Amino acid sequence: MQQLILPALLASCWTLCTEAGDWCYQTQFSLDHPCNVPEKWNLANSRCDGRSQSPINIVTRKTLKDKRLTPFKFDNYQQIFTGMIKNNGHSVQAGVPHLSTVSGGGLPTSYKAVQFHLHWGNNGGPGSEHTIDGEQYPMELHIVHMKQQYTDLTTALSDQEGVAVLGFFYEKSNSANRKYEPIINALRSIRNAKDNTSLIAISLAQLIPAEQNLTSYYRYKGSLTTPGCNEAVIWTLFESPIPLSMEQLRAFSELKFHDGKSMVGTFRPVQPLNGRQVSWSGGAVILASSFLLMAAIATALGLSQPN
Ligand SMILES: *[C@@H]1O[C@H](CO)[C@@H](O)[C@H](O)[C@H]1NC(C)=O
Ligand SMILES: *[C@@H]1O[C@H](CO)[C@@H](O)[C@H](O)[C@H]1NC(C)=O
Ligand SMILES: [Zn+2]
Repeated sequence: MQQLILPALLASCWTLCTEAGDWCYQTQFSLDHPCNVPEKWNLANSRCDGRSQSPINIVTRKTLKDKRLTPFKFDNYQQIFTGMIKNNGHSVQAGVPHLSTVSGGGLPTSYKAVQFHLHWGNNGGPGSEHTIDGEQYPMELHIVHMKQQYTDLTTALSDQEGVAVLGFFYEKSNSANRKYEPIINALRSIRNAKDNTSLIAISLAQLIPAEQNLTSYYRYKGSLTTPGCNEAVIWTLFESPIPLSMEQLRAFSELKFHDGKSMVGTFRPVQPLNGRQVSWSGGAVILASSFLLMAAIATALGLSQPN
């Protein structure tokens, strides 16, 4: 009989102790502090049970090459700004002035940057949200954009194509990435949930690979990867990863969740594709170099001389 009481008490505590909006990552769960882990995010918001959820595993041999996925046009990505970076209790997030925009890249219109945040593992272990052929990278950057016409993300999220997220993977490198020093240094000032500090003199361009390395990417329609899980996102995942040293990757695991636990494993598990098609832009970098090679041959043969 007693064996039945404890689960019953826990079950009632589950309902009473966790509010509808109280969601957490798997790493945060404990019996003293029950919270809605990713499998139960539908209790935080029923949209999390939708059929076009993110992240997903990208099976490269099943992607479809799409010629409409042209290179992106990045405007004001070089713009230096001072933003606020915050430990929001789930991640580290920085606000971006709405000056940087993206267009092209098969997007229906121009989108302006709103914020960026990251998802990571434990001390440099697997931590990306999207996976490529089952491979999970140590970290993933999301630069969140909304359609130019909107002034707030809430409104943009009610449009099926209102939000465009550019996703970048990280890879371990032997040397520190100096362009990431402002962010890595800021982490020390935002150890605890709700802490914030200024991020001085950075640009979005310095956080991502050089533009010529951004022509190869995957595209699909999905959702926010945290509750409310709104299915309003045009996803782009770039093939070219951003290098960070092990020490830089580990610095993120020094942050704390609300309850003081190490902020690690801040990723949602991959979601069912449910028949969605993932497109691929193709290896335009290789095409460009073979074009140059052909141009060089043509020049050598005197074919490019007009007569
Ligand atoms: C930033 O932190 C300070 C306390 O250090 C707080 O007063 C302020 O409201 C915070 N700002 C935001 C936007 O969270
Ligand atoms: C661009 O990609 C090439 C080949 O993968 C790599 O060697 C180079 O470091 C990359 N450059 C940048 C700035 O990411
Ligand atoms: Zn994200």
